[in-house]
Amino acid sequence: MIMIKMYLVLLMCLIYSVAAQVPPYTETCVQGAYPPKAHLKVPEYVINLDLPPSQRWNQLASDKKNEIRTILDAFKTFIGEFGIIAKEVIYFIDLLGPLVVDALPQPFQDELRGISNATGIEIGEITLYNIFYEIFTVCTSVIAQSPTGKLYHARNLDFGLFMGWDIKNRTWYITEKLRPAIVNLVWQRAGKTVFKSVNYAGYVGILTAVSPGQFTLSMNERFNIDGGYRGIIDLILTGKGTWMGFLTRNTMETAQSFDEAKYMLTFKQMIAPAYFILGGNKTGQACVITRNRKVNGTDIWQMSQAGGWYILETNYDHWKAPFFLDDRRTPANRCMRNMTQNGVGIAGLFNMLSSKPVLNKLTTYTALMQVNSGHLETWLQYCDDPCVPW
Ligand SMILES: *[C@@H]1O[C@H](CO)[C@@H](O)[C@H](O)[C@H]1NC(C)=O
Ligand SMILES: *[C@@H]1O[C@H](CO)[C@@H](O)[C@H](O)[C@H]1NC(C)=O
Ligand SMILES: *[C@@H]1O[C@H](CO)[C@@H](O)[C@H](O)[C@H]1NC(C)=O
Ligand SMILES: *[C@@H]1O[C@H](CO)[C@@H](O)[C@H](O)[C@H]1NC(C)=O
Ligand SMILES: *[C@@H]1O[C@H](CO)[C@@H](O)[C@H](O)[C@H]1NC(C)=O
Repeated sequence: MIMIKMYLVLLMCLIYSVAAQVPPYTETCVQGAYPPKAHLKVPEYVINLDLPPSQRWNQLASDKKNEIRTILDAFKTFIGEFGIIAKEVIYFIDLLGPLVVDALPQPFQDELRGISNATGIEIGEITLYNIFYEIFTVCTSVIAQSPTGKLYHARNLDFGLFMGWDIKNRTWYITEKLRPAIVNLVWQRAGKTVFKSVNYAGYVGILTAVSPGQFTLSMNERFNIDGGYRGIIDLILTGKGTWMGFLTRNTMETAQSFDEAKYMLTFKQMIAPAYFILGGNKTGQACVITRNRKVNGTDIWQMSQAGGWYILETNYDHWKAPFFLDDRRTPANRCMRNMTQNGVGIAGLFNMLSSKPVLNKLTTYTALMQVNSGHLETWLQYCDDPCVPW
């Protein structure tokens, strides 16, 4: 208990010391940011689901092995800064990794082994790499409806909170290393696209995806005391619970409709709580599923209840006020109203997601999806000074 309190005090000190570094700026709703410069568009890879799982990632993993290595090294440096215990942790990961991977469900187990083989990185570290995307993701997701009733789904993925602030460059250490690893994936079976997603190379779960003609999905982290280690202990003791990334991946691979996806994301015990932002293919079909780790207490918030033409989620329960030091919701809502329903579209949503502090130093990418056409485009994001750290 004392340890936790000390940690909180340290965290608050860190928050204030980082926040004190931010020069003043005025919040405006960005106009005309779209399209960004061509070099910011992320590359695309095909993942062939007909291949054996161990071979699906060969091309991507060997192309991006240096980027994956760099991220892992940055992560280890960050842990290492916490001192001697952290070193033991890394040693443990290398030691236990092969056992942890044995306990993972298929096809994830073989996929991770394949990535390990193709990159030459220890299987334990590849496993850790896949788990660490399930923590510290701080994001903004929105689904909006155009005046003709077409649904657009867009999101910022902010990652790397508290993982080393570079005082000189005013950047988050890990965030900077992540951008070069971002790719769009086209998942195919029998030569046909099953779904498209945005991934950090080497991560096999799903954070942002579209099933063409059917539904769109994004996941935002939900901070809750009932997460993390309790979920992992429960998984070990009872075998109940699934990694969030595996649940979203299964949903994308198998759900045939918005309703089926909603069902899958609602009735499965997880390791940690989460927000699922889910859009369908018909006018008005959009919701935010606020999940506890267990299936009890799920809240489903519909776009009609959220104001009619859009629904927006950051990292706080929609029925509660956001944490006062991290209010991206109010500015995002202000910019949505500024955009008006007539402005809904790829460019309008990109502008909104490029407005500070919705765009901040943690933002790695903005993804834009349109369900009926199955369109997905992803842009790397950088936040020039003055800019908030989160
Ligand atoms: C590992 O990769 C090598 C080529 O780099 C390949 O020949 C071998 O079959 C792979 N092993 C497994 C288990 O996938
Ligand atoms: C800080 O920025 C400089 C110049 O852009 C770059 O060379 C350096 O690698 C950066 N430092 C870190 C830790 O990223
Ligand atoms: C929407 O999805 C449902 C369920 O898959 C499908 O039957 C329907 O044809 C789709 N509608 C459109 C407009 O794509
Ligand atoms: C779920 O909630 C209901 C009512 O709130 C309660 O009776 C039930 O025991 C809970 N189930 C679990 C698994 O927690
Ligand atoms: C939106 O914001 C821009 C600049 O911040 C402003 O010029 C414009 O009048 C606003 N539009 C509406 C509808 O609020």
